[in-house]
Amino acid sequence: MTEHSTRTAARRHPESPLAPDGFLWGAATSAFQIEGAPDSDWARWDPRDPADTEARARGVGHRERTEADLALLEEIGLNAYRFSVEWSRVVPARGAWNEEEVERYRRMASRLRARGIEPVVTLHHFTSPAWLAAEGLDWTHEAFLFEFQRFAGRVIEALAESVRVWVTLNEPNVQVGGGFLTGQTPPGRRGLHTAHDAVCNMLRAHAHLYETIHAAVPAAVVGIAHNMICFEPDRAHSRLDRWAARLADRVYNLDIPRAFETGIVTLRALPLNRVTAIPLPGRLDFLGVNYYTRAFVTFSVLDPRRHRYFWDDRTGRGLTQTGWEVYPQGFAEVLRSASRLGVPLVVTENGAAESDADRKTAYLRDHLRVLEASRAEGLDIRGYFWWSLLDNYEWLAGLGPRFGLYHVDFDTLARTPTATLAELARAAR
Ligand code: FCB
Repeated sequence: MTEHSTRTAARRHPESPLAPDGFLWGAATSAFQIEGAPDSDWARWDPRDPADTEARARGVGHRERTEADLALLEEIGLNAYRFSVEWSRVVPARGAWNEEEVERYRRMASRLRARGIEPVVTLHHFTSPAWLAAEGLDWTHEAFLFEFQRFAGRVIEALAESVRVWVTLNEPNVQVGGGFLTGQTPPGRRGLHTAHDAVCNMLRAHAHLYETIHAAVPAAVVGIAHNMICFEPDRAHSRLDRWAARLADRVYNLDIPRAFETGIVTLRALPLNRVTAIPLPGRLDFLGVNYYTRAFVTFSVLDPRRHRYFWDDRTGRGLTQTGWEVYPQGFAEVLRSASRLGVPLVVTENGAAESDADRKTAYLRDHLRVLEASRAEGLDIRGYFWWSLLDNYEWLAGLGPRFGLYHVDFDTLARTPTATLAELARAAR
Protein backbone atom coordinates (compact mmCIF):
# COMPACT_ATOMS: atom_id res chain seq x y z
CA MET A 1 0.00 0.00 0.00
CA THR A 2 1.29 3.45 -0.74
CA GLU A 3 1.54 5.92 2.06
CA HIS A 4 -1.42 7.81 0.72
CA SER A 5 -3.73 4.82 0.40
CA THR A 6 -2.78 3.79 3.95
CA ARG A 7 -4.14 7.07 5.11
CA THR A 8 -7.30 6.82 3.07
CA ALA A 9 -7.80 3.36 4.55
CA ALA A 10 -7.41 4.83 8.01
CA ARG A 11 -10.12 7.34 7.27
CA ARG A 12 -12.42 4.56 6.13
CA HIS A 13 -11.57 2.23 8.96
CA PRO A 14 -14.72 0.19 9.81
CA GLU A 15 -14.61 1.53 13.35
CA SER A 16 -13.99 5.12 12.32
CA PRO A 17 -15.74 7.43 14.78
CA LEU A 18 -16.50 9.79 11.91
CA ALA A 19 -18.62 7.32 9.95
CA PRO A 20 -20.81 9.15 7.42
CA ASP A 21 -23.99 7.77 8.98
CA GLY A 22 -23.09 8.92 12.48
CA PHE A 23 -22.88 12.38 13.96
CA LEU A 24 -20.97 13.64 16.98
CA TRP A 25 -23.02 15.88 19.23
CA GLY A 26 -20.82 17.31 21.90
CA ALA A 27 -19.61 20.08 24.13
CA ALA A 28 -16.06 21.45 24.17
CA THR A 29 -13.71 22.68 26.88
CA SER A 30 -9.99 23.31 27.30
CA ALA A 31 -7.97 22.26 30.35
CA PHE A 32 -6.67 25.70 31.30
CA GLN A 33 -10.11 27.26 31.18
CA ILE A 34 -11.78 24.79 33.56
CA GLU A 35 -8.90 23.22 35.50
CA GLY A 36 -6.45 26.08 35.61
CA ALA A 37 -2.72 25.48 35.21
CA PRO A 38 -0.44 27.32 37.67
CA ASP A 39 2.73 26.23 35.86
CA SER A 40 1.63 27.37 32.41
CA ASP A 41 2.74 30.44 30.48
CA TRP A 42 -0.81 31.80 30.66
CA ALA A 43 -0.90 31.58 34.47
CA ARG A 44 2.04 34.00 34.63
CA TRP A 45 0.76 36.29 31.90
CA ASP A 46 -0.09 39.85 32.93
CA PRO A 47 -2.49 39.06 35.80
CA ARG A 48 -5.05 41.77 36.46
CA ASP A 49 -5.49 41.11 40.18
CA PRO A 50 -5.11 38.32 42.79
CA ALA A 51 -8.53 36.89 41.89
CA ASP A 52 -7.39 36.52 38.32
CA THR A 53 -4.25 34.66 39.40
CA GLU A 54 -6.37 32.33 41.50
CA ALA A 55 -8.77 31.65 38.63
CA ARG A 56 -5.86 30.85 36.32
CA ALA A 57 -4.61 28.30 38.85
CA ARG A 58 -7.89 26.47 39.45
CA GLY A 59 -10.15 27.36 36.51
CA VAL A 60 -13.67 26.56 37.64
CA GLY A 61 -12.67 23.65 39.85
CA HIS A 62 -13.03 20.91 37.25
CA ARG A 63 -10.15 18.86 38.69
CA GLU A 64 -12.01 18.46 41.96
CA ARG A 65 -15.29 17.74 40.16
CA THR A 66 -14.18 15.71 37.17
CA GLU A 67 -16.55 12.78 37.70
CA ALA A 68 -19.56 14.96 38.38
CA ASP A 69 -18.79 17.23 35.41
CA LEU A 70 -18.45 14.31 33.01
CA ALA A 71 -21.75 12.96 34.28
CA LEU A 72 -23.35 16.23 33.09
CA LEU A 73 -22.65 15.16 29.50
CA GLU A 74 -24.74 12.06 30.04
CA GLU A 75 -27.55 14.15 31.50
CA ILE A 76 -27.68 16.14 28.28
CA GLY A 77 -27.45 12.98 26.20
CA LEU A 78 -24.40 14.04 24.18
CA ASN A 79 -22.31 11.39 22.44
CA ALA A 80 -19.00 13.29 22.34
CA TYR A 81 -16.84 15.52 24.50
CA ARG A 82 -13.87 17.62 23.40
CA PHE A 83 -11.28 18.39 26.08
CA SER A 84 -7.56 19.14 26.16
CA VAL A 85 -4.56 17.74 27.98
CA GLU A 86 -2.63 20.38 29.91
CA TRP A 87 1.02 20.13 28.91
CA SER A 88 2.30 22.07 31.94
CA ARG A 89 0.65 19.63 34.34
CA VAL A 90 2.10 16.61 32.61
CA VAL A 91 5.55 18.18 32.15
CA PRO A 92 5.83 20.73 35.00
CA ALA A 93 9.64 21.11 34.64
CA ARG A 94 12.29 20.23 32.10
CA GLY A 95 12.73 16.46 32.05
CA ALA A 96 9.86 15.87 34.51
CA TRP A 97 6.96 13.58 33.65
CA ASN A 98 3.91 13.43 35.85
CA GLU A 99 2.47 9.98 35.31
CA GLU A 100 -0.47 10.62 37.65
CA GLU A 101 -1.64 13.50 35.51
CA VAL A 102 -1.54 11.40 32.37
CA GLU A 103 -3.34 8.65 34.20
CA ARG A 104 -6.07 11.11 35.17
CA TYR A 105 -6.63 12.06 31.51
CA ARG A 106 -6.49 8.39 30.52
CA ARG A 107 -9.19 7.57 33.07
CA MET A 108 -11.35 10.43 31.82
CA ALA A 109 -11.12 9.17 28.25
CA SER A 110 -11.80 5.56 29.10
CA ARG A 111 -14.71 6.48 31.37
CA LEU A 112 -16.24 8.51 28.53
CA ARG A 113 -15.75 5.72 26.01
CA ALA A 114 -17.28 3.19 28.38
CA ARG A 115 -20.43 5.35 28.56
CA GLY A 116 -20.74 5.79 24.84
CA ILE A 117 -19.30 9.30 24.74
CA GLU A 118 -16.56 9.78 22.13
CA PRO A 119 -13.58 11.53 23.72
CA VAL A 120 -12.09 14.13 21.39
CA VAL A 121 -8.67 15.13 22.66
CA THR A 122 -6.89 18.39 21.89
CA LEU A 123 -3.13 18.16 22.38
CA HIS A 124 -2.43 21.89 22.41
CA HIS A 125 -5.06 24.43 23.37
CA PHE A 126 -3.12 27.72 23.70
CA THR A 127 -1.14 26.95 26.87
CA SER A 128 2.48 25.82 27.20
CA PRO A 129 4.68 25.15 30.24
CA ALA A 130 6.10 28.23 31.97
CA TRP A 131 9.54 26.61 32.19
CA LEU A 132 9.88 26.71 28.41
CA ALA A 133 8.98 30.40 28.42
CA ALA A 134 11.53 30.96 31.20
CA GLU A 135 14.17 29.37 28.98
CA GLY A 136 13.15 31.82 26.24
CA LEU A 137 11.63 29.08 24.09
CA ASP A 138 8.42 29.33 22.11
CA TRP A 139 6.87 28.01 18.89
CA THR A 140 9.53 29.69 16.76
CA HIS A 141 12.23 27.43 18.26
CA GLU A 142 13.02 23.92 17.21
CA ALA A 143 13.76 22.94 20.81
CA PHE A 144 10.17 23.89 21.71
CA LEU A 145 8.81 21.84 18.84
CA PHE A 146 10.88 18.90 20.02
CA GLU A 147 9.51 19.17 23.58
CA PHE A 148 5.94 19.44 22.35
CA GLN A 149 6.25 16.42 20.12
CA ARG A 150 7.80 14.42 22.92
CA PHE A 151 4.99 15.34 25.33
CA ALA A 152 2.28 14.70 22.74
CA GLY A 153 3.83 11.41 21.64
CA ARG A 154 3.72 10.03 25.14
CA VAL A 155 0.17 11.24 25.71
CA ILE A 156 -0.93 9.59 22.47
CA GLU A 157 0.59 6.32 23.57
CA ALA A 158 -1.10 6.51 26.97
CA LEU A 159 -4.55 7.42 25.62
CA ALA A 160 -4.45 5.31 22.45
CA GLU A 161 -6.78 2.67 23.81
CA SER A 162 -9.77 4.95 24.24
CA VAL A 163 -9.18 8.00 22.05
CA ARG A 164 -9.89 7.86 18.32
CA VAL A 165 -10.58 11.51 17.54
CA TRP A 166 -7.60 13.83 17.91
CA VAL A 167 -7.21 17.57 17.48
CA THR A 168 -3.50 18.31 17.37
CA LEU A 169 -3.74 22.11 17.61
CA ASN A 170 -6.38 24.57 18.63
CA GLU A 171 -6.62 27.60 16.35
CA PRO A 172 -3.04 28.10 15.15
CA ASN A 173 -4.21 31.33 13.48
CA VAL A 174 -5.51 32.77 16.76
CA GLN A 175 -2.50 31.64 18.72
CA VAL A 176 -0.06 33.03 16.25
CA GLY A 177 -2.04 36.24 15.81
CA GLY A 178 -2.11 36.99 19.54
CA GLY A 179 1.21 35.50 20.61
CA PHE A 180 3.47 36.27 17.66
CA LEU A 181 1.93 39.09 15.63
CA THR A 182 0.19 41.55 17.96
CA GLY A 183 1.86 40.36 21.16
CA GLN A 184 -1.37 40.46 23.16
CA THR A 185 -1.06 36.91 24.46
CA PRO A 186 1.88 34.69 25.51
CA PRO A 187 4.68 34.73 24.54
CA GLY A 188 3.93 38.34 23.56
CA ARG A 189 6.12 38.56 20.48
CA ARG A 190 5.44 40.76 17.47
CA GLY A 191 6.48 40.48 13.89
CA LEU A 192 5.47 39.06 10.56
CA HIS A 193 8.47 36.76 10.26
CA THR A 194 8.11 35.61 13.87
CA ALA A 195 4.47 34.77 13.18
CA HIS A 196 5.42 32.88 10.04
CA ASP A 197 8.07 30.84 11.88
CA ALA A 198 5.60 30.04 14.68
CA VAL A 199 2.80 28.89 12.39
CA CYS A 200 5.22 26.77 10.36
CA ASN A 201 6.44 24.97 13.45
CA MET A 202 2.89 24.41 14.65
CA LEU A 203 2.01 22.84 11.32
CA ARG A 204 5.21 20.77 11.36
CA ALA A 205 4.11 19.44 14.74
CA HIS A 206 0.75 18.55 13.24
CA ALA A 207 2.31 16.69 10.32
CA HIS A 208 4.55 14.74 12.67
CA LEU A 209 1.79 13.89 15.15
CA TYR A 210 -0.59 12.87 12.37
CA GLU A 211 1.76 9.97 11.68
CA THR A 212 2.31 9.21 15.37
CA ILE A 213 -1.42 9.00 16.02
CA HIS A 214 -2.17 6.80 13.01
CA ALA A 215 0.64 4.46 13.98
CA ALA A 216 -0.79 4.12 17.49
CA VAL A 217 -4.53 4.11 16.79
CA PRO A 218 -5.73 2.26 13.68
CA ALA A 219 -9.21 3.82 13.65
CA ALA A 220 -7.98 7.33 14.44
CA VAL A 221 -9.08 10.52 12.76
CA VAL A 222 -6.85 13.55 13.15
CA GLY A 223 -7.63 17.19 12.55
CA ILE A 224 -6.95 20.72 13.70
CA ALA A 225 -9.50 23.16 15.14
CA HIS A 226 -9.44 26.21 12.90
CA ASN A 227 -11.01 29.52 13.88
CA MET A 228 -12.98 31.12 11.07
CA ILE A 229 -14.53 34.58 11.00
CA CYS A 230 -16.95 35.85 8.40
CA PHE A 231 -15.16 39.00 7.18
CA GLU A 232 -17.17 41.70 5.46
CA PRO A 233 -16.27 45.15 4.16
CA ASP A 234 -17.40 47.92 6.49
CA ARG A 235 -18.56 50.01 3.51
CA ALA A 236 -19.91 47.66 0.86
CA HIS A 237 -19.36 50.29 -1.85
CA SER A 238 -15.70 50.83 -1.00
CA ARG A 239 -13.27 48.94 -3.20
CA LEU A 240 -10.57 49.28 -0.57
CA ASP A 241 -12.76 47.84 2.18
CA ARG A 242 -13.81 45.00 -0.11
CA TRP A 243 -10.20 44.27 -0.95
CA ALA A 244 -9.21 44.38 2.75
CA ALA A 245 -12.03 41.98 3.67
CA ARG A 246 -10.94 39.55 0.97
CA LEU A 247 -7.35 39.77 2.16
CA ALA A 248 -8.42 39.09 5.76
CA ASP A 249 -10.45 36.11 4.57
CA ARG A 250 -7.48 34.73 2.68
CA VAL A 251 -4.87 35.21 5.37
CA TYR A 252 -7.00 34.33 8.41
CA ASN A 253 -9.46 31.77 7.08
CA LEU A 254 -7.95 30.18 4.00
CA ASP A 255 -4.15 30.11 4.21
CA ILE A 256 -3.96 27.28 6.73
CA PRO A 257 -6.55 25.00 5.06
CA ARG A 258 -4.84 25.65 1.73
CA ALA A 259 -1.48 24.64 3.17
CA PHE A 260 -2.97 21.18 3.62
CA GLU A 261 -3.66 21.11 -0.10
CA THR A 262 -0.43 22.63 -1.38
CA GLY A 263 2.11 21.79 1.32
CA ILE A 264 3.18 25.42 1.19
CA VAL A 265 2.86 28.13 3.82
CA THR A 266 3.27 31.60 2.39
CA LEU A 267 4.15 34.78 4.20
CA ARG A 268 3.06 37.80 2.19
CA ALA A 269 5.52 40.40 3.35
CA LEU A 270 6.32 42.33 0.21
CA PRO A 271 8.90 42.68 -1.21
CA LEU A 272 10.20 39.62 0.63
CA ASN A 273 7.56 36.94 0.39
CA ARG A 274 8.55 33.79 2.18
CA VAL A 275 7.46 30.35 1.11
CA THR A 276 7.92 27.34 3.35
CA ALA A 277 7.22 23.73 2.41
CA ILE A 278 5.66 21.48 5.05
CA PRO A 279 4.51 17.90 4.41
CA LEU A 280 0.83 18.57 5.09
CA PRO A 281 -1.04 17.16 2.04
CA GLY A 282 -2.86 13.96 2.96
CA ARG A 283 -2.39 14.59 6.65
CA LEU A 284 -5.80 15.87 7.68
CA ASP A 285 -8.76 13.53 8.22
CA PHE A 286 -11.15 16.32 9.14
CA LEU A 287 -11.06 20.08 9.43
CA GLY A 288 -12.39 21.39 12.74
CA VAL A 289 -14.21 24.69 12.33
CA ASN A 290 -14.58 27.08 15.26
CA TYR A 291 -17.12 29.74 14.33
CA TYR A 292 -18.52 32.51 16.49
CA THR A 293 -19.10 35.74 14.61
CA ARG A 294 -18.67 38.18 11.74
CA ALA A 295 -16.11 41.01 11.66
CA PHE A 296 -16.09 44.17 9.57
CA VAL A 297 -12.98 45.35 7.83
CA THR A 298 -12.08 48.82 6.74
CA PHE A 299 -8.98 50.18 5.01
CA SER A 300 -7.69 53.70 4.97
CA VAL A 301 -4.36 55.14 3.87
CA LEU A 302 -4.84 57.89 6.45
CA ASP A 303 -4.97 55.36 9.27
CA PRO A 304 -1.47 54.45 10.51
CA ARG A 305 -2.68 50.87 10.98
CA ARG A 306 -4.31 50.88 7.54
CA HIS A 307 -6.61 47.92 8.26
CA ARG A 308 -9.18 47.93 11.04
CA TYR A 309 -11.31 45.03 12.18
CA PHE A 310 -14.31 45.41 14.44
CA TRP A 311 -17.62 43.94 15.49
CA ASP A 312 -20.81 45.82 14.98
CA ASP A 313 -24.41 44.94 15.72
CA ARG A 314 -25.73 45.15 12.19
CA THR A 315 -28.24 42.35 12.65
CA GLY A 316 -29.79 44.33 15.51
CA ARG A 317 -29.71 41.33 17.81
CA GLY A 318 -27.37 42.91 20.32
CA LEU A 319 -23.72 42.00 20.85
CA THR A 320 -22.84 39.07 23.12
CA GLN A 321 -20.89 39.46 26.38
CA THR A 322 -17.62 39.23 24.46
CA GLY A 323 -18.79 42.04 22.17
CA TRP A 324 -19.40 39.73 19.21
CA GLU A 325 -22.18 40.07 16.70
CA VAL A 326 -24.77 37.29 16.34
CA TYR A 327 -24.58 36.35 12.68
CA PRO A 328 -25.74 32.79 11.85
CA GLN A 329 -25.50 33.45 8.12
CA GLY A 330 -21.74 33.80 8.52
CA PHE A 331 -21.70 30.23 9.82
CA ALA A 332 -23.15 29.05 6.51
CA GLU A 333 -20.52 30.99 4.63
CA VAL A 334 -17.52 29.71 6.54
CA LEU A 335 -18.78 26.12 6.39
CA ARG A 336 -19.14 26.36 2.64
CA SER A 337 -15.69 27.86 2.32
CA ALA A 338 -14.11 25.26 4.66
CA SER A 339 -15.74 22.42 2.75
CA ARG A 340 -13.75 23.32 -0.39
CA LEU A 341 -10.77 21.59 1.16
CA GLY A 342 -12.55 18.32 0.47
CA VAL A 343 -12.17 16.68 3.86
CA PRO A 344 -15.06 16.11 6.30
CA LEU A 345 -15.81 19.00 8.63
CA VAL A 346 -16.46 18.89 12.35
CA VAL A 347 -17.72 22.03 14.07
CA THR A 348 -15.27 21.85 16.96
CA GLU A 349 -16.60 25.06 18.56
CA ASN A 350 -19.64 27.27 18.23
CA GLY A 351 -21.24 29.26 21.00
CA ALA A 352 -22.10 32.57 22.59
CA ALA A 353 -21.43 34.19 25.94
CA GLU A 354 -24.77 35.37 27.24
CA SER A 355 -26.14 35.73 30.74
CA ASP A 356 -29.64 35.76 29.29
CA ALA A 357 -30.76 32.17 28.67
CA ASP A 358 -33.19 33.09 25.90
CA ARG A 359 -30.54 34.90 23.93
CA LYS A 360 -28.08 32.05 24.31
CA THR A 361 -30.69 29.51 23.27
CA ALA A 362 -31.70 31.60 20.25
CA TYR A 363 -28.05 31.70 19.16
CA LEU A 364 -27.83 27.91 19.38
CA ARG A 365 -31.16 27.36 17.62
CA ASP A 366 -30.26 29.64 14.72
CA HIS A 367 -26.83 28.10 14.28
CA LEU A 368 -28.28 24.59 14.39
CA ARG A 369 -30.67 25.61 11.62
CA VAL A 370 -27.70 26.66 9.53
CA LEU A 371 -25.96 23.40 10.36
CA GLU A 372 -28.97 21.41 9.16
CA ALA A 373 -29.33 23.49 6.01
CA SER A 374 -25.62 23.11 5.25
CA ARG A 375 -25.83 19.34 5.62
CA ALA A 376 -28.93 19.28 3.46
CA GLU A 377 -27.00 21.26 0.86
CA GLY A 378 -24.54 18.38 0.80
CA LEU A 379 -21.70 19.64 2.97
CA ASP A 380 -19.94 16.76 4.67
CA ILE A 381 -20.22 17.76 8.34
CA ARG A 382 -19.71 15.02 10.91
CA GLY A 383 -20.08 16.71 14.26
CA TYR A 384 -21.08 19.77 16.25
CA PHE A 385 -19.58 20.87 19.57
CA TRP A 386 -21.01 23.69 21.63
CA TRP A 387 -18.49 25.93 23.37
CA SER A 388 -18.71 25.27 26.25
CA LEU A 389 -19.92 22.66 28.73
CA LEU A 390 -19.36 25.05 31.64
CA ASP A 391 -18.94 28.77 32.16
CA ASN A 392 -15.17 29.13 32.38
CA TYR A 393 -12.09 31.34 32.32
CA GLU A 394 -12.07 33.24 29.06
CA TRP A 395 -8.52 34.09 27.94
CA LEU A 396 -8.54 37.86 27.85
CA ALA A 397 -11.75 38.45 29.76
CA GLY A 398 -11.35 36.24 32.84
CA LEU A 399 -14.32 34.88 34.76
CA GLY A 400 -17.08 36.87 33.15
CA PRO A 401 -18.40 35.73 29.79
CA ARG A 402 -20.88 32.89 30.20
CA PHE A 403 -20.48 30.35 27.41
CA GLY A 404 -21.66 27.37 29.45
CA LEU A 405 -24.48 24.93 28.96
CA TYR A 406 -24.16 24.85 32.73
CA HIS A 407 -24.02 28.08 34.66
CA VAL A 408 -21.16 28.19 37.16
CA ASP A 409 -21.38 30.28 40.31
CA PHE A 410 -17.86 31.70 40.36
CA ASP A 411 -17.82 31.89 44.19
CA THR A 412 -19.23 28.51 45.18
CA LEU A 413 -18.41 26.84 41.81
CA ALA A 414 -21.89 25.26 41.87
CA ARG A 415 -23.15 24.12 38.44
CA THR A 416 -26.74 24.80 37.36
CA PRO A 417 -28.27 23.76 34.03
CA THR A 418 -29.26 26.56 31.63
CA ALA A 419 -32.19 26.45 29.22
CA THR A 420 -29.76 26.24 26.30
CA LEU A 421 -28.94 22.72 27.31
CA ALA A 422 -32.45 21.48 26.53
CA GLU A 423 -32.14 22.85 23.00
CA LEU A 424 -28.87 21.00 22.38
CA ALA A 425 -30.28 17.83 23.94
CA ARG A 426 -33.22 18.00 21.52
CA ALA A 427 -30.88 18.25 18.58
CA ALA A 428 -28.71 15.41 19.84
CA ARG A 429 -31.76 13.13 20.12
C1 FCB B 1 -11.97 30.19 20.98
C2 FCB B 1 -11.10 29.35 21.89
C3 FCB B 1 -11.80 28.84 23.11
C4 FCB B 1 -12.73 29.88 23.71
C5 FCB B 1 -13.62 30.48 22.66
C6 FCB B 1 -14.59 31.50 23.18
O1 FCB B 1 -11.19 30.98 20.17
O2 FCB B 1 -10.62 28.23 21.19
O3 FCB B 1 -10.83 28.41 24.02
O4 FCB B 1 -12.01 30.83 24.42
O5 FCB B 1 -12.84 31.06 21.64
